[in-house]
Amino acid sequence: MRVPLMAGNWKMYKSVGEAIALVQALKESLADIADREILVCPPFTALYPVAETLKGSNIELGAQNIYPKEEGAYTGEISPTMLVDVGCRYVIVGHSERRQHFKESDEFINRKVHLALEHGLRPILCVGETLEEREAGHEVEVVTKQVQECLAGVTGEEIKEVVVAYEPVWAIGTGLTATPRQAQAMHETIRDILQDLYGQETAEATRIIYGGSVKPDNVDDLMREPDIDGTLVGGASLKAESFTRIVKNDE
Ligand code: PGA
Repeated sequence: MRVPLMAGNWKMYKSVGEAIALVQALKESLADIADREILVCPPFTALYPVAETLKGSNIELGAQNIYPKEEGAYTGEISPTMLVDVGCRYVIVGHSERRQHFKESDEFINRKVHLALEHGLRPILCVGETLEEREAGHEVEVVTKQVQECLAGVTGEEIKEVVVAYEPVWAIGTGLTATPRQAQAMHETIRDILQDLYGQETAEATRIIYGGSVKPDNVDDLMREPDIDGTLVGGASLKAESFTRIVKNDE
């Protein structure tokens, strides 16, 4: 009942020319996929040309960040209305790289979630513990707090538009993937938190995707887990061949 979401987070990679070439290749290689959602999240500078290239395709567009204001004197920032204007459907919020390098708090991320929802953008809310936190046995506590605080005030109707991405920080860009069992265990925990907040039916309908060194050779095992509803892919989404293989997974 949950449609898998296979998303690529390009981070700070790809010129306009490279971005167009990549989505042109993906449009062809993924043209026959109809049973899952496919999403690419290019850097801001490539959003418009990528949107133009994707017109009429089965691939959706997302951004990697937003500022939680509609407009104003916020030099260097991008608003949700600007993202909608260029054709974005999704936006990643709370990525661990933003939490770490830009000191984003759960409260700030919560404001982004609300403003994205107000403008019809689906937030992909990233949560996940660091290696230190996992080694200290605090991963459930850390992720629970992130989910609760980042979703504060989000209604039962709005949560249907939200995707939660579990991305253990120690697995991002490191080549270390959480084992399917470790990932499944945390996804189950997140679904339990959603159930406490919104009830069983809504929790069952909400997608929880996994990110952190997802590759062609580990995606099949991850996607077999009952509570893993898709993937958020960094490095392996930068090449048409590997992202295509990941999107298709068990085919
Ligand atoms: P990775 O990144 O696939 O390169 O580990 C995932 C992410 O940061 O979303």
